[in-house]
Amino acid sequence: MEGILCCIIKEGRNMFSQQTGPIGIFDSGYGGLTVFDKIRQAMPEYDYIYLGDNARAPYGQRSFEVVYRFTRQAVLKLFEEGCQLVILACNTASAKALRSIQQLDLPEWDAERRVLGVIRPTVEIMDRISTTKHIGILGTSGTISSQSYSLEIGKMFPHIKVTGEACPMWAPLVENNEFDSPGADYFVKKHLDHILSVDPRIDTLVLGCTHYPLLIGKIKQYLPAGITVLPQGEYVAESLIDYLNRHPEMNRRLTRGGECRFLTTESATKFSDAASVFLNDPIEVEQISID
Ligand code: DGL
Repeated sequence: MEGILCCIIKEGRNMFSQQTGPIGIFDSGYGGLTVFDKIRQAMPEYDYIYLGDNARAPYGQRSFEVVYRFTRQAVLKLFEEGCQLVILACNTASAKALRSIQQLDLPEWDAERRVLGVIRPTVEIMDRISTTKHIGILGTSGTISSQSYSLEIGKMFPHIKVTGEACPMWAPLVENNEFDSPGADYFVKKHLDHILSVDPRIDTLVLGCTHYPLLIGKIKQYLPAGITVLPQGEYVAESLIDYLNRHPEMNRRLTRGGECRFLTTESATKFSDAASVFLNDPIEVEQISID
């Protein structure tokens, strides 16, 4: 039995022969493009593959088990495409799947490759951004109910008071190109009013879902003055640069040709049309299947 197990693990370790390749960026849909854009601006020389599981988005209200299964399939696909490092540019996947992938899957697939999330880099900057030390997290139902932000902040900055607000309609509004509609006004105002009534001392609101930067105009419109709204992209990019400085062995594995590929599980045309809202240049997109 031990022999068989060894063999399976050994096979797993040999699963990906490629030892250099691009950075993979994954999200349930388009939201991760807000993170990808900041990373690419900060590190334009690297190669990237973006994968959006648009056919199954949104993930926000899906169970732990389903988010883990879908995210695992996506990471596996990015590894098969040669990615050496994958960023889960999705808070829901970071909250529900990151730890299991790091602890259970990576050692079997390839112990040298890495998967990183977006929650930790966001939490790291909170103490320097907030004056009142009262912070609000806006996220999907999955991210808020996982309590990932409160737990991480509690470990790093126990003096910060955290209030979470699930905004289940916000990602679907963005995913369906309705982020500038009267419906968006209604749902944005509703959740901002609620979180500020729960803790009126909040001075920083974290956009804890990578789709939400598309709603930032409306969010600012309905907030009282003096509240900072924090999208994550630039902090994730800063943190990635810092990570690669601290891990030259990973940095050496990443190819640099300035190339970007875009993969989606939905229609390629739909993705490239919608992506033009997030990115300035037109892009070519490939439709793939990951399940
Ligand atoms: N953009 C994702 C996040 O950061 C997921 C949104 C969704 O699929 O519900 O949580």
